[in-house]
Amino acid sequence: MPGIVIVGAQWGDEGKGKATDLLGSRIDYVVKFNGGNNAGHTVVVGNEKYALHLLPSGILTPGVTPVIANGVVVDLEVLFHELEALTARGVDVSRLRVSANAHIITHYHRTIDKVTERFLGKRQIGTTGRGIGPAYADKINRVGIRVQDLFDENILRQKVEGALDVKNHMLVKIYNRRAIAVDEIVDDLLSYVERLRPMVADTALELHEALERDEIVLFEGGQATMLDVDHGTYPFVTSSNATSGGASTGSGVAPNRIDRVIGIVKAYTTRVGAGPFPTELFDESGDYLRATGFEFGTTTGRPRRVGWYDAPIARYAARINGVTDFVLTKLDVLDDLDTIPVCVAYEVDGVRVEEIPVSQSDFHHAKPIYEEFPGWKQDITGCRTFESLPKNAQDYVLALESMSGSRISVIGVGPGRDEVVVRHNLLP
Ligand code: GDP
Ligand code: IMO
Ligand code: MG
Repeated sequence: MPGIVIVGAQWGDEGKGKATDLLGSRIDYVVKFNGGNNAGHTVVVGNEKYALHLLPSGILTPGVTPVIANGVVVDLEVLFHELEALTARGVDVSRLRVSANAHIITHYHRTIDKVTERFLGKRQIGTTGRGIGPAYADKINRVGIRVQDLFDENILRQKVEGALDVKNHMLVKIYNRRAIAVDEIVDDLLSYVERLRPMVADTALELHEALERDEIVLFEGGQATMLDVDHGTYPFVTSSNATSGGASTGSGVAPNRIDRVIGIVKAYTTRVGAGPFPTELFDESGDYLRATGFEFGTTTGRPRRVGWYDAPIARYAARINGVTDFVLTKLDVLDDLDTIPVCVAYEVDGVRVEEIPVSQSDFHHAKPIYEEFPGWKQDITGCRTFESLPKNAQDYVLALESMSGSRISVIGVGPGRDEVVVRHNLLP
């Protein structure tokens, strides 16, 4: 039975939380496999609004077992803060499992994230400042602290000493900051041990056993395809694999256990932080999309950069992830527009190119070639079937579908849990 992956098809904030919520009651496990508390998922359930960063949004569905898998970087302060906040609102979080192999974000990772960004000046990435990049850098450099290290104080101390060795030289001599004491870090990490212990597990084994029992395991990607460290707009990316391949390496579930890949794509495009964005708008249409779509970061509150739908990006995401179904979100945000431009290809140095150029410099100055679609000038938030959508809205969706490399199975027509039009069921 299915392993299902949800991934962002653009630069994040496509509404992945809502897609998880939609699959809801049929899911047994929901797995976060990449990133950390750089993510921000807003989920609206009835009159309640939840903003989650580290925890997968599936934690809101009763009966689901949420898993923080090995590919995640965990800030323990944030973990317990989110768990306490949900418990206070009556959400049962007792099933949470945390991989013994997940890496820990510590105080020094957050500090280094901030000082390196400042040091980069004009070249900065615009990170969320949560220590994500430095924690992954330590993992790859083999000086990371893993969840399991917390349970052996001697090992923990040695590892923290090793990790701080070079970093303190760097902090003091290059960045003009104070050195960080080993004890300060060790004491802080040890303060979480007893609360953490019951959650820690061999999550790869548990997920394997769940799939063997024919249970449904949903992998919820943080960030998105264009922010993937390998396949995104490097270096303006996050430091993990946010594409569907990351679900496998980030959880220990083999690729052939994954049956479906659901790509979440907005009916227009947004991006937070620096980097290329061909369809970006700087005029009043941009202001309109930002205000109507409420495009302000869940994590940092920054206004999101906004632009029109970019079909080559959707096609790229379909290819890289093996998207079987798209969920097209926020179609309702376009309700009042007279015409809606869609980027169908780019012009690079006077030449029309159909796909994302492999050269980053070409992508930086790629100019979108637009096709215009007539708006529908009607409120669609009450629509629940494809046939009840205005004809122009149907045509817009069908046009995007034909350009985007996979079928559009669900359409979001409002932020609420039920505000969707289902064309094809996401679960068999
Ligand atoms: P994520 O990071 O991909 O989980 O997405 P975010 O939660 O950061 O941003 C998506 C926002 O869009 C959230 O505030 C959702 O409540 C909202 N949203 C999701 N689907 C729809 C939709 O179909 N229409 C509207 N108007 N809002 C939506
Ligand atoms: P969700 O899961 C949008 C962006 C940051 C920055 C870059 C690197 O809500 O879609 P990082 O702190 O990860 O090192 O920052 O990635 N970024 C996101 N943008 N949505 C996200 O998550 C993001 N997570 C990171 O703005 O440009
Ligand atoms: Mg988000």
